[in-house]
Amino acid sequence: MQSAKSLRRFFAITLSLVLSSTVLAADTNSPRERLLLDFGWKFHLSNEWSHTQNLAKAGSGSGPAGRSFGDAGWRTVNLPHDWVVELPFDPEADGSHGFHPVGPGFPTNSVAWYRRTFELPKADTGKRLWLEFDGVFRDCEVFVNGWFVGHHEGGYNGFRYDITDVADVGGKNVVAVKVDASQFEGWFYEGAGIYRHVWLVKTAPVAIAPDGIFVQSVFKNNKIPEGPVEIVVEADLLNQSTNFILAATARFEIISPEGKSLGKFKDSSQIHGKEQSELFGAAKFGSYELWSPESPRLYKLITTVEADGKMIDRTETAFGIRTVAFDADKGFLLNGKPYELKGTCNHQDHAGVGAALPDALQYFRIAKLKEMGVNAYRTSHNPPTPELLQACDRLGMLVMDENRLLGSDEENLRHLEGQVRRDRNHPSVAIWSICNEEPRQDSLEGGRVGRTMQKLVNRLDPTRPVTAAENIGDVFSGLMGALEVRGWNYRVGQDIDNYHQEHPQQPNVGTEQGSTVSTRGIYENDAQRGYVSAYDVNAPPWAHSAERWYGFFAERPWLSGGFVWTGFDYRGEPTPYGWPCVNSHFGILDTCGFPKDNFWYYQAWWTKQPVLHLLPHWNWPDLQGKDIDVWCYANCQQVELFLNGQSLGRQTMTNYSHLHWPVKYAPGVLSAKGYTDGRLVSETKVETTGDPSAVRLTPDRSIINADGEDVSVFTVSVADAQGRIVPVATNLVHFDLSGPGKILGVGNGDPSCHEPDVFVQQPPMHTVPENDGWRWKKLPDVRDQDLAEFKADFDDSSWDTAHPLSDSGPLGEQEQAVFRAKIQVSEQDLTAESVELCIGMVDEDGWVYVNGQRVGETHDWRTPAAFDVKSALHPGGNTIAIGVANWNGAGGINKGVALQFADKPVAVAWSRSVFNGLAQIIVQSTKEPGEIKLTASADGLSPATVPVRSLPCTPRPAVP
Ligand code: GAL
Repeated sequence: MQSAKSLRRFFAITLSLVLSSTVLAADTNSPRERLLLDFGWKFHLSNEWSHTQNLAKAGSGSGPAGRSFGDAGWRTVNLPHDWVVELPFDPEADGSHGFHPVGPGFPTNSVAWYRRTFELPKADTGKRLWLEFDGVFRDCEVFVNGWFVGHHEGGYNGFRYDITDVADVGGKNVVAVKVDASQFEGWFYEGAGIYRHVWLVKTAPVAIAPDGIFVQSVFKNNKIPEGPVEIVVEADLLNQSTNFILAATARFEIISPEGKSLGKFKDSSQIHGKEQSELFGAAKFGSYELWSPESPRLYKLITTVEADGKMIDRTETAFGIRTVAFDADKGFLLNGKPYELKGTCNHQDHAGVGAALPDALQYFRIAKLKEMGVNAYRTSHNPPTPELLQACDRLGMLVMDENRLLGSDEENLRHLEGQVRRDRNHPSVAIWSICNEEPRQDSLEGGRVGRTMQKLVNRLDPTRPVTAAENIGDVFSGLMGALEVRGWNYRVGQDIDNYHQEHPQQPNVGTEQGSTVSTRGIYENDAQRGYVSAYDVNAPPWAHSAERWYGFFAERPWLSGGFVWTGFDYRGEPTPYGWPCVNSHFGILDTCGFPKDNFWYYQAWWTKQPVLHLLPHWNWPDLQGKDIDVWCYANCQQVELFLNGQSLGRQTMTNYSHLHWPVKYAPGVLSAKGYTDGRLVSETKVETTGDPSAVRLTPDRSIINADGEDVSVFTVSVADAQGRIVPVATNLVHFDLSGPGKILGVGNGDPSCHEPDVFVQQPPMHTVPENDGWRWKKLPDVRDQDLAEFKADFDDSSWDTAHPLSDSGPLGEQEQAVFRAKIQVSEQDLTAESVELCIGMVDEDGWVYVNGQRVGETHDWRTPAAFDVKSALHPGGNTIAIGVANWNGAGGINKGVALQFADKPVAVAWSRSVFNGLAQIIVQSTKEPGEIKLTASADGLSPATVPVRSLPCTPRPAVP
């Protein structure tokens, strides 16, 4: 029987399309706003507060969870932020996570607080307000204005909370997030903190549901884009805050990659109070451009929703027109044609920034992989940040979008559903992976759990198949037999062929392959320093060299290609060593994105451009006259090698292989010529360099946006007098930056380097006790703001002396009083970044006034109270007045009063050694346009100063 849903869809399809060439103007009438909430968070590492969530009474979070908690002395950070990258290295810490003291065994470094204060304008009255987190590592509790709004576990899934009920529209709001990274999730570096973006989303009461748009391109034969394409749209509308039925119309408009309106269609529906309704629309197009990694053409769907003649919502959704399929014989098919997946698996951290990547760095990384010939990216072993998928959509990279854990429990399925709903419009996403190397993969239960997950994914997204990364051989039980596509981790050999023969109906894909371990610029294993030779000869026992796995896969197109472990090195998993190594050696590129020699192996076989690459470098003063094994990666037919002009012979290349010559070392020039069909097609050389002479800086982009988010990624190199990079240089380089920018982080790709990636500015503090001269007087009720006793000039000389250093008292049960003191501050004091009035204990409710001005209130006798008072103070004598209402036991102000001054931060000096001639420094714009100048200097070398222009732009809408 046809479902109600498909019937509705059938009727909703509109017949004709008006093709027009209107370029669409942005519409500002929609009540929807999506504001970035990344800037200006207050951050505090560690948790000195035992019960911030009051389980007895609602809306009364205490300590940092409370509304009036003073956080002025905390460090200010922008998101994305990962605090683990700020921690030192520690041999006692977990090596698989990169030897940082966080997680199990390091409680003081594993819990932190973030707080952000913002105003909501009166105009937001009646809107629905959502807080959206793209990802926090890991367990977190979120409070808004002292109200608990949600608890999320899981470091890789986005989540959102509707905060409408507890928001103060027309007033000040405080979001407080307690992040607890005490528990690891993976076996690799994971970072900690709010390491992805946060958004404040405002909508009308009836609006498109979160992730409520699904757009598909449908063809008659769904695996082949032939004939017209039907763009089918599903829009979920949510009537969350009204009880009445609303007649709404969704209008859909398709915009071409050039920005032209191609056609419009619509659907209407009654939306019942507190319910969700699905609207559908579809339209056929005879001509269209297909999306592919080689031609990433993106269309846009504009959805507007109207009710009562008014626009109530509007969203834009990027999508691509393309088909994907996995075939048991032909392998992966993109747009109906066999297409080899030349993939890499990747974790999400990068040098300098840990897991907190600015968006521009996602683009930087995807571009590097594309340069190598990569066309597919596996988000091992977790859902990615949405911006990674945007970069893949726009630059052209297919994605295997991976879920974190195998599990059909309620929470896991909720996470999986969220991931599919969020990511299913991205044309880059070609396949879902539900898990990686689960120990129960071959069990009956594993199979059942996998089937449940697969069914859920199929229901939410009928356009892409499901796989899992399986590290087991010719086994069909459990997950292997259950899944639409069989994934292969690290299998190369007879069992794969046997499996294919025994299960000829099941498509296959190399989910995790390789992997060579190597260190950039190193040509001998050195266990002590933790370096592995960059020749393609070392792989862990379960893995294979590049040539071994790829030679096998390249000859079996039915395997669909594969994903190498890994594209980039990542922190943690320092296989084959332990300390002093702190990051992996699996990458084809190091943690900065500098290529290791295998980069050219893949580039030779994965691209059509002429590739000719020689290794090792040619600086071997200690090996004079000794044999050096010279390797060559190339995609021509023959290569001739020369040392200082002398031919060392011509050799013929075998597919998916390399050439090599034993060469007696003499300094000079090692060169090669590549020939195809007897024609010279490529040339290269490696030269013996002189000593380090100069530091050089090369930005990846010399013009960036002054939006406070964009970055320029500088390569730092050390060159000889002739400008050649010295491949063995290790100089320590110092950096200095001027202009409207800041340094985000530094790195060098050395797996054993323990220099900091970030140099953190902790605001320097000093504290002045203020326990003298206090007086107090009981009053019947101190809750009235207008009491004369709170005023600056009130005469309290007849009052009793108070002793704020006591542990309790002087108030009895049900008593109230005002406490007053005069304090002195100088002009110099007020140059501090912030000044806080700190009170050890206010028991129980307190209202605090400085010079007659109310600066805050506290209702938590258990935690010290702090109030931001800088703007209320003036040089000279100042009056503090505190009204206290005590209900139970003894009460008052106790445990000491002090002023805490956050002094001006001292500029930190950034530095990083180059590793084998190279390092990286990431520079971010501020919102101020201008010229950012970066200077790099090193002892005995000539320095470099390079400008980057930060241009005025329209930054994305953000919470002020
Ligand atoms: C695989 C695993 C990866 C990584 C790799 C190291 O088995 O899936 O996450 O640990 O081994 O070789």
